[in-house]
Amino acid sequence: MKTSPTISLLFCLLFLLVWAQSLTTSCTSPPNLSIKLSPYFADSIPYPVQNPFSEAGIALGKLLFDDPTLSGNNQISCATCHHKSKHFTDGISLSNNGLSKKRLPRNAPTLFNLAWADQGLFWDGGAQNLESLVFAPLKHADEMGQDLKLLPEELRQKDNYKTLFFKAFAQDTITNALIARALAQYVRTLTAAHARYDEVIQKKAQFTKLEQQGLEIFNQQCVSCHPPPFFTDFGFHAVGDFLEAKEIKTPENDENKIEKGRYRITADSADLGKFKTPTLRNLAMTAPYFHDGRYQTIEIAIQKHTKATNPPRKEEISLLIAFLNTLNEKQIKE
Ligand code: HEC
Ligand code: HEC
Repeated sequence: MKTSPTISLLFCLLFLLVWAQSLTTSCTSPPNLSIKLSPYFADSIPYPVQNPFSEAGIALGKLLFDDPTLSGNNQISCATCHHKSKHFTDGISLSNNGLSKKRLPRNAPTLFNLAWADQGLFWDGGAQNLESLVFAPLKHADEMGQDLKLLPEELRQKDNYKTLFFKAFAQDTITNALIARALAQYVRTLTAAHARYDEVIQKKAQFTKLEQQGLEIFNQQCVSCHPPPFFTDFGFHAVGDFLEAKEIKTPENDENKIEKGRYRITADSADLGKFKTPTLRNLAMTAPYFHDGRYQTIEIAIQKHTKATNPPRKEEISLLIAFLNTLNEKQIKE
């Protein structure tokens, strides 16, 4: 039977449409997954249809995340720069903990609640999803410097990885795509939702007077970009620096040397100097701050929002910090 070219074209378009849909649709509610979220926060963790959660997949992802075999010299793991004890950061402005020991251009962010980040990952939104993101640190010469052609074989040689991959994906093989899927599953399960703030929202605790005053200032000046429950809108904004550099010209403040942020991805001049809004959860444990870790304290990070808000007064800043401290978790869930 002959099909006319128009009909084939239509079929082709239909197929593309369905396929594109399947890539973007996300599901929730992993079956029988023993991850406890605060009920008010979210019923379940969203995930892409092509990479559903499984207990075995998450456990494998965690093992891989902590395993230095994933790097070119077998000494650096994801956890080197995203350490659990530091709330998944490394505590330094610009890490030189990678394979080359060269400083990275940006600060290693915390990894909490990324399953809900829906406008791109990395400070400039350059990665679409966690599955594709993980290849960046794996391959980068200044991070893990791994030759991806060798990685699956290296893991096949090790311990019981073959069994663990089989359990996770029911496939008798180890591939880079499956490594990425396991890592992404694990990172999606890193949630922060058990701070005192969350207890107050669930009426299990109360704010002090100062915290309540801080919340009121927060709701006036900060909530537009740092909304609950994640305390980020996952969007991109310029909060001062770049714009300031255009106005106050000094050699150190040269706009051509300043990071262009989201502009690097979109080439849209409206995106110059915009960076992904960081979460304000667990701030006390994730210093230093901003995309290049230039500010050591929360006070200064807030004061430097010169163009985003009317800079809060000193008394307001201490009230804001009293409130922000209710977002810290002593115990992190994993
Ligand atoms: C040598 C340090 C280093 C190592 C090792 C490393 N990272 Fe990162 N990571 C960073 C830095 C720095 C950034 C910020 C980069 C940027 O935004 O341009 C980052 C960003 C990320 C982000 C984006 C977070 C967000 O809010 O957008 C994720 C997710 C992530 N890393 C996961 C991983 C995983 C998984 C591994 C292991 C395969 C890994 N990282 C290994 C330093 C590191
Ligand atoms: C217009 C959006 C916007 C508003 C309004 C805003 N912020 Fe931010 N905030 C950001 C962005 C974007 C960054 C990251 C900037 C960078 O890295 O260059 C940031 C960074 C921060 C940081 C550093 C966090 C980290 O991990 O690096 C703190 C603390 C902070 N904001 C607190 C506040 C407070 C408190 C207010 C209200 C007084 C506020 N922000 C208002 C967008 C905003």
